[in-house]
Amino acid sequence: MPANHQHGLMSSPLDAITWPVRTDRLMLRPATREDLEATWQFRRLDGVGRWLTRAPATLEQHRAQLEDGARLAKTLVVVLDGEVIGELMLQVEDAWSQAEVAGRARDVQAELGWVLHPDRAGHGYATEAVRGLIDLCFVELGLRRVTAQCFADNVSSWRLMERLGMRRESYTVRDSLHRSGEWFDGVGYALLAEEW
Ligand SMILES: CC(C)(COP(=O)(O)OP(=O)(O)OC[C@H]1O[C@@H](n2cnc3c(N)ncnc32)[C@H](O)[C@@H]1OP(=O)(O)O)[C@@H](O)C(=O)NCCC(=O)NCCS
Repeated sequence: MPANHQHGLMSSPLDAITWPVRTDRLMLRPATREDLEATWQFRRLDGVGRWLTRAPATLEQHRAQLEDGARLAKTLVVVLDGEVIGELMLQVEDAWSQAEVAGRARDVQAELGWVLHPDRAGHGYATEAVRGLIDLCFVELGLRRVTAQCFADNVSSWRLMERLGMRRESYTVRDSLHRSGEWFDGVGYALLAEEW
């Protein structure tokens, strides 16, 4: 049964996929409320939240964010030997289009995101998980383009994108406000289905 039905949540593009999805060493599946404690193990670490949109200060804040149906509907967990070691985001979106053809631009691309437990860094697990995620986007969901963005100073994140062959398409200057109060540069990457 698709996870969203199981948990009474809104429908999601993830419903179209047969779960779990296996890669060489990992298993990917939709996140559920039962993943709260496991994801908190890395979400609570300072180094992890530093570059992420949200850095919940307490387990209760993390719970409130994870239990938001819209958030769950676009979150996958990365499992290694039965242990949740990371999270992925898959947000299907419309492409920009002119008004007359907007229908053909609906839900044709996805924004991706990732977090890995720092104890598991350096083994290529994030690369492998995101490779599996991009496969899902192009092969299973039939999307035409994937995108991702990060702070320019988040070198490990954009190096991951470059390992996977994603192309840097934008460098934006002091456009992104960090919770420290500083405006940082940002980078945007993308990949087309025919390039995969
Ligand atoms: C971004 C993030 C997921 C990258 O993690 P990572 O450990 O660098 O990525 P991987 O798991 O793919 O590992 C890659 C490293 O393992 C090495 N490696 C070992 N075996 C490998 C394999 N089979 N395949 C690929 N790389 C391998 C690579 O050489 C690389 O090492 P290096 O960094 O010394 O060059 C991680 O830093 C993170 O979670 N950061 C915090 C959250 C965050 O910023 N998210 C992005 C917000 S936009």
